[in-house]
Amino acid sequence: MNLFDVYPLFDVNIVKGKGCHVWDDQGNEYLDLYGGHAVISIGHAHPHYVESISRQVATLGFYSNSVINKLQQQLAERLGKACGYDDYSLFLINSGAEANENALKLASFHTGRTRVISFSKAFHGRTSLAVEATDNPKIIAPINANGHITYLPLNDIEAMQKELAKGDVCAVIIEGIQGVGGIKIPTTEFLQALREACTQYGTILILDEIQSGYGRTGKFFAHQHSGIRPDIITVAKGIGNGFPMAGVLISPLFQPVYGQLGTTFGGNHLACSAALAVLDVFEQEHLVENAARVGTFLLEELKKIKGIKEVRGKGLMIGLEFDEPIKELRLRLLHEQHVFTGASGTNVLRLLPPLCLSMEEAKEFINRLNKVL
Ligand SMILES: Cc1ncc(COP(=O)(O)O)c(C=O)c1O
Repeated sequence: MNLFDVYPLFDVNIVKGKGCHVWDDQGNEYLDLYGGHAVISIGHAHPHYVESISRQVATLGFYSNSVINKLQQQLAERLGKACGYDDYSLFLINSGAEANENALKLASFHTGRTRVISFSKAFHGRTSLAVEATDNPKIIAPINANGHITYLPLNDIEAMQKELAKGDVCAVIIEGIQGVGGIKIPTTEFLQALREACTQYGTILILDEIQSGYGRTGKFFAHQHSGIRPDIITVAKGIGNGFPMAGVLISPLFQPVYGQLGTTFGGNHLACSAALAVLDVFEQEHLVENAARVGTFLLEELKKIKGIKEVRGKGLMIGLEFDEPIKELRLRLLHEQHVFTGASGTNVLRLLPPLCLSMEEAKEFINRLNKVL
């Protein structure tokens, strides 16, 4: 059997990782400014993480959601305190798309409505409603195009208020910072006006923090830079540092109903031990603060480099927009300078390093970038 060929691959076989570095099967070392697509949060092969999941899998890897799972309860308690949403509830699943599906489903159960507002360039996943809310017609199959979504321009307060005033919108779904869309940041004024309008018109505000969350922008969640509280927050990617896991943080506005949501694998023992180890390391190594400090340095230094059209971002979620396509630049960074980076569209280089990136590693990246510009 062959693999279903949907990924354009780099010709590199990564076999080992440590902190912010990875190695290929030829023994070449790479600086990882991509984090396996924002997934590696505490660094590759962190000893505490390795020890926690090894111990857990040797004890109990999985049992179903029909029995008490104290690890889930511990995770909900720890996460609530760490992110400042102690009064919210946690529902655990396995991927970002699944988190957004459940968030939208909850919003619809709650409001009885079916219309959703999303924003131009938004990315919310590749399944059912999540992909319908993703502004990329190429990945929306006819079976997903069910007319639930109205797309609005990001940061257009007037357009948003006009649409919500119709009184029939179930939910607004918005990324803390748009990742796939090219590191586009919702303004504080926009998020505050959105919060107000959602409350006024009985619409559920869903913050997709799957890429921008868990410390990446220098606050636990990107929306916390704007001082708003959404009704639902979705998380995935870095929360398990590579172990597939996602969560929906649900405000006290919602009453749980037995059987309304459910999953086989979500919140299993092994996943919870991974997520708990991640939170331990976040606390012990002050990773949110590190993302703010190293991210601020990187942003300042990158802005000094000539030839980059615009540098955008917060903390360790950074986009470098160029006038020309970055495909060649990204390949040279990888093969000549041994640096992994991400991309958004054709012209934006995207940086999503592990949150433990040190000042020295940040400086090293700047050096290597300068060599290919
Ligand atoms: C903002 C955002 N939402 C949702 C998703 C989908 O997550 P997953 O690939 O885990 O389904 C992604 C993935 O890149 C994302 O960046």
